[in-house]
Amino acid sequence: MQNKTLYFGDNLEILRKKIPDESFDLIYLDPPFNSSRSYNVLFQEGLRDSEAQVRAFEDSWHWTRESKQTFDYLVTKTNEGISNLMLALEKVIGHNDMLAYLAMMTARLIELHRVLKKTGSLYLHCDPTASHYLKIVLDAVFGKEHFRNEIIWKRQTAKKGSQFKKRTYGNSFDSILFYTKTDEYQFKIPLIQLTENELEQKFNKIDEQGRRYRLDRVTLPRMMARQNLRYEYKGYTPEYGWMMEKGKLRKLDEEGRLYWSKDGKAYRKYFMDSYEGQEVSNVWTDIFVASGDESLKYPTQKPLALLERIIQASSNEGDWILDSFCGCGTTVVAAEKLNRHWVGIDITALAINLIKHRLKKQFDLGTKQINLDGLPNDVNGARELFKKDPFEFEYWALDLINAMPAQSKSQGQMRGADRGVDGVVTFIKNTTDGNGKNGNGNGKWEYGKAIVQVKGGGAQRSHIATLKGDIEREKAEAGIFITLEKPTQPMIKEAVDAGIFTTPITNKAEFPKIQILTVDELLSGHKPNLPQGLIKNYYKEAKSIEKKNNSMTQKMMMF
Ligand SMILES: C[S@@+](CC[C@H](N)C(=O)[O-])C[C@H]1O[C@@H](n2cnc3c(N)ncnc32)[C@H](O)[C@@H]1O
Repeated sequence: MQNKTLYFGDNLEILRKKIPDESFDLIYLDPPFNSSRSYNVLFQEGLRDSEAQVRAFEDSWHWTRESKQTFDYLVTKTNEGISNLMLALEKVIGHNDMLAYLAMMTARLIELHRVLKKTGSLYLHCDPTASHYLKIVLDAVFGKEHFRNEIIWKRQTAKKGSQFKKRTYGNSFDSILFYTKTDEYQFKIPLIQLTENELEQKFNKIDEQGRRYRLDRVTLPRMMARQNLRYEYKGYTPEYGWMMEKGKLRKLDEEGRLYWSKDGKAYRKYFMDSYEGQEVSNVWTDIFVASGDESLKYPTQKPLALLERIIQASSNEGDWILDSFCGCGTTVVAAEKLNRHWVGIDITALAINLIKHRLKKQFDLGTKQINLDGLPNDVNGARELFKKDPFEFEYWALDLINAMPAQSKSQGQMRGADRGVDGVVTFIKNTTDGNGKNGNGNGKWEYGKAIVQVKGGGAQRSHIATLKGDIEREKAEAGIFITLEKPTQPMIKEAVDAGIFTTPITNKAEFPKIQILTVDELLSGHKPNLPQGLIKNYYKEAKSIEKKNNSMTQKMMMF
């Protein structure tokens, strides 16, 4: 197993085939929640008014032959605890999507437990839809004695309003279940730094040397009374005992950390200058959903701060971190930032592509520095992917030319204004100064676009003719046709006959209106002929001009 690896594929298969026992110090997973709708990952990018959607893992929500097989495997081939739990859940829940979900999660959690080091921790991010069931599953897989916390993360976003009268309270938290493999786990309690004001309020007393401090009890309350700690010290014997033995109390006193009130009672002094921060409890309200520059418009994206907190609490530099449902790569980015080794797995090429671009942008990590596993490297691999999953083939092919997916497919149907368009490449076609005249790059960017169509098989002349129409309809400058098979002569002729386009910024350079590119050509490094050099310059300058531009800037930089 190599550091900085992104696996494309089903995590169960990857864990079973590729990950050795006891490989990771920390595992975080944020699986799709079992909501009543099909699980759609929305990726709001691409053409205006369109959303790229991918149905991630939809089938495993349903009680199918396959989920029944997983269930039977868990009942017959695992240990008694898990087998009994599955049978009990079957009795309580019945044969439905929830049981299918729990069966698929149990099979994965067994593998995750196997690949976790003895000193390792696992954090499972879920919501109240299934958290109660998942906790019993985790008890069965990890042992109930290895449950450490249920963390409540309060999301700071309000759900969309409804036209109907509310009949329940709004749901505003996620649960994160924290388990360890054994009792020998590493953990550093995270500390929150208080503001100057909060510190002054907390440490509201000042001593003769001008040191701020606060007072706390050093004696036990009634409900914790301890007879053996009930001793006299400097004439005072607390009714229910001291909080510590005499030696420790004396030491505190010698260090000037005991305070005596006028009525002779003792308190403990806490000085502000030795305060390291407020210990984090299991209710997290101080972490906000990803927004602004951090947001990739991936709706299930978790905030970096959340993952940073988990990684810092439960691992050290150089440790190995796994996210088996890594989405847009929040864990991977946090791990890279905090100098941990990392591995991410996701079932959609869309997520893997997004992470690739995120790592490039944030850490300048190119494809040479990360290991991509499971995506095609050659035409045969591309053919296999197409056969297995045409949607994933399409996402993969679009990324070969850095195109953003523009499809809005739900349940296999096309909808929205982007009919027939698979992706889009954006480039700068002009810059204008404040007066709308051609400027020197300091003014407003104007974007052009090339729409992209991907064909895994059966490409023919009529597809090129249709693309021509789509370019007009979408008011695009150009069209790119990616094909797995070689184009026919009539296709090439149709593309040539479509003519050329120019943009004001390229000094009359000409670009083909329609280009046909084979997967083979793209894999050998061939690039579409577009005014792309300008985008590269733009990338370099982007940091300084980011604020001047519209939100498209950030999204373009991502790609
Ligand atoms: C809730 S999202 C994770 C979001 C992530 N925590 C982030 O911050 O971006 C769940 C992800 O799991 C992926 N997924 C679903 N089923 C999977 C499977 N069987 N194997 C690997 N990944 C899977 C989906 O594609 C999706 O990207």
